[in-house]
Amino acid sequence: MKKLLLSLAACFILFNMQAQNIKLPKPDKNGGENILKSIDLRQSDRSFKDGDISLQHLSTVLWAGWGESHGKRTAPTAMNSQDIVLYVFLESGIYRYDEINNELILLKKGDYRSVTSPNQTFASKVTNVAIVSDFAKYERVKEHHTKFVFGAMSAAYVSENMYLACAGMGDNIGTVTRYAAGMEKDVKELLNLREEEHIFLFQTIGYKK
Ligand SMILES: Cc1cc2nc3c(=O)[nH]c(=O)nc-3n(C[C@H](O)[C@H](O)[C@H](O)COP(=O)(O)O)c2cc1C
Repeated sequence: MKKLLLSLAACFILFNMQAQNIKLPKPDKNGGENILKSIDLRQSDRSFKDGDISLQHLSTVLWAGWGESHGKRTAPTAMNSQDIVLYVFLESGIYRYDEINNELILLKKGDYRSVTSPNQTFASKVTNVAIVSDFAKYERVKEHHTKFVFGAMSAAYVSENMYLACAGMGDNIGTVTRYAAGMEKDVKELLNLREEEHIFLFQTIGYKK
Protein backbone atom coordinates (compact mmCIF):
# COMPACT_ATOMS: atom_id res chain seq x y z
CA MET A 1 0.00 0.00 0.00
CA LYS A 2 2.81 2.39 0.96
CA LYS A 3 4.58 1.59 -2.31
CA LEU A 4 1.39 2.28 -4.28
CA LEU A 5 0.90 5.64 -2.56
CA LEU A 6 4.53 6.56 -3.18
CA SER A 7 4.32 5.74 -6.89
CA LEU A 8 1.01 7.64 -7.17
CA ALA A 9 2.69 10.65 -5.54
CA ALA A 10 5.67 10.35 -7.93
CA CYS A 11 3.28 10.21 -10.94
CA PHE A 12 1.46 13.28 -9.62
CA ILE A 13 4.71 15.25 -9.21
CA LEU A 14 5.93 14.18 -12.67
CA PHE A 15 2.59 15.10 -14.26
CA ASN A 16 2.67 18.56 -12.67
CA MET A 17 6.27 19.15 -13.72
CA GLN A 18 5.42 18.22 -17.31
CA ALA A 19 2.15 20.15 -17.24
CA GLN A 20 4.10 23.38 -16.94
CA ASN A 21 5.96 22.86 -20.18
CA ILE A 22 4.33 24.34 -23.27
CA LYS A 23 3.68 22.16 -26.30
CA LEU A 24 3.91 24.54 -29.24
CA PRO A 25 1.53 24.44 -32.20
CA LYS A 26 3.12 23.32 -35.48
CA PRO A 27 5.18 26.10 -37.11
CA ASP A 28 3.52 27.62 -40.15
CA LYS A 29 6.12 26.73 -42.78
CA ASN A 30 3.97 27.75 -45.74
CA GLY A 31 2.80 31.15 -44.61
CA GLY A 32 4.19 34.62 -45.09
CA GLU A 33 5.90 36.48 -47.89
CA ASN A 34 8.48 34.90 -50.16
CA ILE A 35 12.07 35.08 -49.00
CA LEU A 36 13.20 38.01 -51.19
CA LYS A 37 10.24 40.13 -50.14
CA SER A 38 10.95 39.18 -46.52
CA ILE A 39 14.54 40.38 -46.91
CA ASP A 40 13.20 43.63 -48.30
CA LEU A 41 10.80 44.05 -45.35
CA ARG A 42 13.34 43.15 -42.63
CA GLN A 43 14.05 45.92 -40.16
CA SER A 44 14.59 46.52 -36.44
CA ASP A 45 11.63 47.67 -34.34
CA ARG A 46 11.70 49.13 -30.85
CA SER A 47 8.14 50.25 -30.22
CA PHE A 48 5.95 47.41 -29.01
CA LYS A 49 2.56 46.89 -27.38
CA ASP A 50 2.87 45.19 -23.98
CA GLY A 51 2.47 41.42 -24.11
CA ASP A 52 4.02 38.25 -25.50
CA ILE A 53 3.45 37.12 -29.07
CA SER A 54 0.99 34.24 -29.63
CA LEU A 55 2.21 30.64 -29.33
CA GLN A 56 1.55 30.15 -33.06
CA HIS A 57 3.78 33.09 -33.97
CA LEU A 58 6.38 32.03 -31.39
CA SER A 59 6.46 28.49 -32.76
CA THR A 60 7.08 29.74 -36.31
CA VAL A 61 9.76 32.25 -35.26
CA LEU A 62 11.60 29.69 -33.10
CA TRP A 63 11.45 27.10 -35.85
CA ALA A 64 12.80 29.62 -38.38
CA GLY A 65 15.61 30.50 -35.99
CA TRP A 66 16.69 27.10 -34.75
CA GLY A 67 14.12 24.48 -35.69
CA GLU A 68 14.65 20.93 -36.80
CA SER A 69 14.95 20.66 -40.58
CA HIS A 70 15.75 17.48 -42.50
CA GLY A 71 17.66 16.04 -39.56
CA LYS A 72 19.71 19.22 -39.14
CA ARG A 73 18.77 22.77 -38.10
CA THR A 74 17.31 25.74 -39.96
CA ALA A 75 20.56 27.68 -39.38
CA PRO A 76 24.05 26.51 -40.36
CA THR A 77 26.80 25.83 -37.82
CA ALA A 78 30.53 25.20 -38.27
CA MET A 79 31.12 21.45 -38.79
CA ASN A 80 27.40 20.96 -38.07
CA SER A 81 28.23 21.39 -34.37
CA GLN A 82 24.68 22.51 -33.56
CA ASP A 83 25.98 24.65 -30.72
CA ILE A 84 22.89 26.85 -30.28
CA VAL A 85 20.40 26.71 -27.40
CA LEU A 86 17.46 29.13 -27.30
CA TYR A 87 16.02 30.34 -23.98
CA VAL A 88 12.61 31.97 -24.21
CA PHE A 89 11.53 34.68 -21.74
CA LEU A 90 7.74 34.97 -21.47
CA GLU A 91 5.55 36.65 -18.87
CA SER A 92 4.84 33.19 -17.41
CA GLY A 93 8.47 32.10 -17.09
CA ILE A 94 11.75 31.17 -18.70
CA TYR A 95 11.80 28.16 -21.01
CA ARG A 96 14.34 26.20 -23.06
CA TYR A 97 13.26 25.58 -26.64
CA ASP A 98 13.27 21.86 -27.38
CA GLU A 99 13.52 22.05 -31.15
CA ILE A 100 13.13 18.31 -31.67
CA ASN A 101 9.80 18.05 -29.85
CA ASN A 102 8.66 21.61 -30.64
CA GLU A 103 8.15 22.27 -26.97
CA LEU A 104 9.10 24.88 -24.37
CA ILE A 105 10.62 23.32 -21.27
CA LEU A 106 9.91 25.37 -18.16
CA LEU A 107 13.06 26.35 -16.25
CA LYS A 108 11.76 29.07 -13.96
CA LYS A 109 8.27 30.39 -13.28
CA GLY A 110 7.78 34.16 -13.22
CA ASP A 111 8.32 37.25 -15.33
CA TYR A 112 12.08 37.77 -15.85
CA ARG A 113 11.84 39.56 -19.21
CA SER A 114 13.24 42.81 -17.83
CA VAL A 115 16.45 41.05 -16.74
CA THR A 116 17.38 40.93 -20.43
CA SER A 117 16.86 44.67 -20.84
CA PRO A 118 17.77 46.85 -17.83
CA ASN A 119 18.80 49.71 -20.14
CA GLN A 120 16.42 48.99 -23.01
CA THR A 121 13.01 49.10 -21.40
CA PHE A 122 11.18 48.82 -24.74
CA ALA A 123 12.08 45.09 -24.53
CA SER A 124 10.92 44.37 -21.00
CA LYS A 125 7.22 43.60 -21.57
CA VAL A 126 7.46 41.52 -24.74
CA THR A 127 8.94 38.16 -25.72
CA ASN A 128 12.72 37.79 -25.58
CA VAL A 129 14.83 34.91 -26.84
CA ALA A 130 18.39 34.49 -25.58
CA ILE A 131 20.60 33.03 -28.32
CA VAL A 132 23.25 30.95 -26.58
CA SER A 133 26.21 29.10 -28.06
CA ASP A 134 27.50 26.10 -26.14
CA PHE A 135 31.25 26.10 -26.80
CA ALA A 136 31.44 22.54 -25.44
CA LYS A 137 29.95 21.46 -28.79
CA TYR A 138 33.19 22.54 -30.52
CA GLU A 139 35.11 19.51 -29.32
CA ARG A 140 37.50 19.56 -32.24
CA VAL A 141 38.30 23.28 -31.98
CA LYS A 142 41.30 24.12 -29.80
CA GLU A 143 41.49 27.93 -29.80
CA HIS A 144 39.00 29.91 -27.72
CA HIS A 145 39.04 32.70 -30.31
CA THR A 146 37.83 30.31 -33.03
CA LYS A 147 35.04 29.01 -30.77
CA PHE A 148 34.02 32.59 -30.12
CA VAL A 149 33.94 33.43 -33.84
CA PHE A 150 32.00 30.27 -34.70
CA GLY A 151 29.53 30.84 -31.86
CA ALA A 152 28.94 34.45 -32.83
CA MET A 153 28.35 33.42 -36.43
CA SER A 154 25.86 30.69 -35.46
CA ALA A 155 23.99 33.19 -33.27
CA ALA A 156 23.87 35.74 -36.09
CA TYR A 157 22.37 33.22 -38.53
CA VAL A 158 19.71 32.29 -35.99
CA SER A 159 18.90 35.93 -35.37
CA GLU A 160 18.65 36.72 -39.08
CA ASN A 161 16.32 33.76 -39.65
CA MET A 162 14.08 35.10 -36.88
CA TYR A 163 14.20 38.60 -38.38
CA LEU A 164 13.12 37.22 -41.76
CA ALA A 165 10.33 35.12 -40.26
CA CYS A 166 8.97 38.17 -38.42
CA ALA A 167 9.19 40.36 -41.52
CA GLY A 168 7.62 37.71 -43.75
CA MET A 169 4.80 36.71 -41.41
CA GLY A 170 3.41 40.24 -41.24
CA ASP A 171 0.64 40.26 -38.61
CA ASN A 172 2.20 43.43 -37.17
CA ILE A 173 5.10 41.49 -35.63
CA GLY A 174 8.20 43.51 -34.91
CA THR A 175 11.65 42.41 -33.77
CA VAL A 176 15.12 43.63 -32.93
CA THR A 177 18.33 41.83 -32.07
CA ARG A 178 20.27 43.10 -29.07
CA TYR A 179 23.87 42.49 -28.03
CA ALA A 180 23.80 40.63 -24.72
CA ALA A 181 27.20 41.63 -23.31
CA GLY A 182 26.04 43.97 -20.53
CA MET A 183 23.37 41.57 -19.28
CA GLU A 184 25.25 38.33 -19.74
CA LYS A 185 26.46 37.83 -16.16
CA ASP A 186 22.99 38.26 -14.58
CA VAL A 187 21.20 36.18 -17.19
CA LYS A 188 23.83 33.45 -17.06
CA GLU A 189 23.31 33.17 -13.30
CA LEU A 190 19.54 33.17 -13.73
CA LEU A 191 19.68 30.40 -16.32
CA ASN A 192 22.31 28.45 -14.40
CA LEU A 193 24.49 28.27 -17.50
CA ARG A 194 27.87 26.56 -17.59
CA GLU A 195 31.06 28.54 -18.20
CA GLU A 196 31.19 27.36 -21.85
CA GLU A 197 27.65 28.57 -22.61
CA HIS A 198 27.92 32.05 -24.06
CA ILE A 199 24.95 34.40 -24.55
CA PHE A 200 25.49 36.40 -27.73
CA LEU A 201 22.18 38.05 -28.56
CA PHE A 202 18.65 38.63 -27.32
CA GLN A 203 15.98 38.60 -29.99
CA THR A 204 13.13 40.82 -28.82
CA ILE A 205 9.79 40.08 -30.49
CA GLY A 206 6.42 41.78 -30.02
CA TYR A 207 3.47 43.33 -31.78
CA LYS A 208 4.28 46.78 -33.10
CA LYS A 209 2.48 49.79 -31.62
C1 LIG B 1 25.39 42.50 -33.21
C2 LIG B 1 24.23 43.48 -33.14
C3 LIG B 1 23.91 44.06 -31.93
C4 LIG B 1 22.82 44.94 -31.82
N1 LIG B 1 22.49 45.42 -30.59
C5 LIG B 1 21.40 46.19 -30.47
C6 LIG B 1 20.97 46.64 -29.18
O1 LIG B 1 21.56 46.33 -28.15
N2 LIG B 1 19.85 47.40 -29.11
C7 LIG B 1 19.14 47.75 -30.22
O2 LIG B 1 18.13 48.46 -30.09
N3 LIG B 1 19.52 47.37 -31.46
C8 LIG B 1 20.62 46.57 -31.61
N4 LIG B 1 20.98 46.10 -32.85
C9 LIG B 1 20.17 46.45 -34.03
C10 LIG B 1 20.87 47.51 -34.89
O3 LIG B 1 20.85 48.76 -34.21
C11 LIG B 1 20.13 47.61 -36.24
O4 LIG B 1 20.26 46.40 -36.92
C12 LIG B 1 20.72 48.73 -37.10
O5 LIG B 1 20.42 49.99 -36.54
C13 LIG B 1 20.20 48.71 -38.53
O6 LIG B 1 18.79 48.81 -38.55
P1 LIG B 1 17.89 47.70 -39.26
O7 LIG B 1 18.08 46.40 -38.51
O8 LIG B 1 16.47 48.23 -39.17
O9 LIG B 1 18.36 47.57 -40.67
C14 LIG B 1 22.06 45.25 -32.97
C15 LIG B 1 22.41 44.67 -34.21
C16 LIG B 1 23.46 43.79 -34.29
C17 LIG B 1 23.78 43.14 -35.61
